[in-house]
Amino acid sequence: MNPIKYLVVFFALIGLSLSPQANDDDLYQDLGGKAGIEAIVDGFVTEISFDQEIYPFFKDSDIGRLREKLVEQFCMLSHGPCEYSGDSMKDVHAGMHITSGQFNRTVELLQASMDKNDIPFAVQNRLIKLLAPMRPDIYHR
Ligand code: HEM
Repeated sequence: MNPIKYLVVFFALIGLSLSPQANDDDLYQDLGGKAGIEAIVDGFVTEISFDQEIYPFFKDSDIGRLREKLVEQFCMLSHGPCEYSGDSMKDVHAGMHITSGQFNRTVELLQASMDKNDIPFAVQNRLIKLLAPMRPDIYHR
């Protein structure tokens, strides 16, 4: 991964931002609405399926359900007209023993999908910033 990009992800993940936005109601539109989010999630799932370190976590998962819940989650987080109906991040990821490196790698795979879907870098970071607070529920130091 490009080191500059890595640093930006790092700062987004630790909750810092050079351009804090009080109101991010436009994010859903900036991600391309429902169709855009579906394309991002499809790409994300594809990236995961090709990743030797991350794919094993998902080998027994219902990918159809995962896709549907991720679309709902990203749609809701970006203030789109959706409600997340999946399980809590804590319950879902409990006992998986995910490391911080694997968490960061998964975020990189999401970024790779957003790159391929021509989502501008600044828009990508706005979504990633919304995922950052989930980090303590997904992996434990
Ligand atoms: C940005 C961070 C992450 C987000 C927002 C996220 C979100 C989600 C969501 C919404 C689901 C579906 C929940 C449901 O079925 O009710 C899910 C499932 C899952 N996640 Fe994550 N996740 C993240 C990071 C990770 C990481 C780092 C791993 C492992 C390396 C992981 C492994 C899994 C697995 C294996 C499932 C499927 C569980 C099953 O088969 O029931 N996730 N995640």
